[in-house]
Amino acid sequence: MARIGSITISPVLMNTACVWASNLEQLQALHSSSFTGAVTTRTCTLKGYNETSTCGVVFTNSSMSSLNTYGYSPLPLASYIGWVKEILSTAVASSNGKPVKPFIISITACSVEELSRMIFLVQELRSTPMFAPLVAVELNTSCPNVSSPSPSGYIPSSIYPLLRVLSEAHMQDKSMTIGLKLPPYTFRGQFHAMISTLKEFNYEDANGGQRNSFAFLTCTNTLGNSLLFPDQIIEPLATARDTEFAVPTTVGGLAGDAIHALSVGNVYTFHRLLHEENQSRDGLYGISIIGVGGVTTPAALGRMHKAGASVVGVATLLGAKGVRAFELLSN
Ligand SMILES: Cc1cc2nc3c(=O)[nH]c(=O)nc-3n(C[C@H](O)[C@H](O)[C@H](O)COP(=O)(O)O)c2cc1C
Repeated sequence: MARIGSITISPVLMNTACVWASNLEQLQALHSSSFTGAVTTRTCTLKGYNETSTCGVVFTNSSMSSLNTYGYSPLPLASYIGWVKEILSTAVASSNGKPVKPFIISITACSVEELSRMIFLVQELRSTPMFAPLVAVELNTSCPNVSSPSPSGYIPSSIYPLLRVLSEAHMQDKSMTIGLKLPPYTFRGQFHAMISTLKEFNYEDANGGQRNSFAFLTCTNTLGNSLLFPDQIIEPLATARDTEFAVPTTVGGLAGDAIHALSVGNVYTFHRLLHEENQSRDGLYGISIIGVGGVTTPAALGRMHKAGASVVGVATLLGAKGVRAFELLSN
């Protein structure tokens, strides 16, 4: 069991934001599985993203890896709020007082105004007391398939205004659990830049305890600018049949086994910086890590925990095996 902010995740295994968590049916199946401890929605925007025929995902033929060209969900935040409300209402009504599985709503925005509006809508849902401890928010700062001005966790200073919006929401309502989905970093300066930015959101709570506005980091998103050829994948996208590359956009976001070592390394480095090397035990000490990237076997899941993840997330294996993926990992 993991307690992250005001949500409780048990078992400590879940899906991460992805195309297989796009609609009511998929979210319901993920929520009903006894092998998931929380459900993350696909990343959505305030009004929906313009999805084109170049968006898709392919799986490699040599390992459990994927390459995708998706941006964000074509459906707006209002759809996800409606589905989360529907699923949680039913779950609470039939829970007989037992704990109900929380949702993490993955959101993103290009402007402070848009993000503020999104937070307002989420808080409207959370204003019903039974939903407050069951709904958290994750800001996706790391979709490699969407160009500027979408938020980039590679340049933490550029997302500072968005983080301030989230922090203000948390300061107004400390039960609001907020996390950041980060891209895979490859050198130490990138980790330090994110840590310095996060430090700005440390505060002292009413009991003198050291806290941070952000409760968790989800590490990592896919590795952008990756290229595969048709002979490396199981089945090409229909829109890429006549091209010499596996996906019509040539490059996309790599995930699964191919990024596992990098994702585990990111979890390890953040764990060290936030916890082990944090002698003063400032607010950063309380930030949890959701480890994701190439968790396709029980051994890989174990490695994520060893590196410092308190919860482990899965996308590619979910796409390949369906919700049964979580049972396979739990065995
Ligand atoms: C098809 C596909 C769609 C994805 N969509 C999102 C998304 O909407 N938001 C997000 O934060 N991450 C998204 N991701 C990234 C995953 O959440 C995850 O961080 C990444 O794939 C690494 O995990 P994995 O190796 O288990 O796939 C997507 C990944 C895939 C494969």
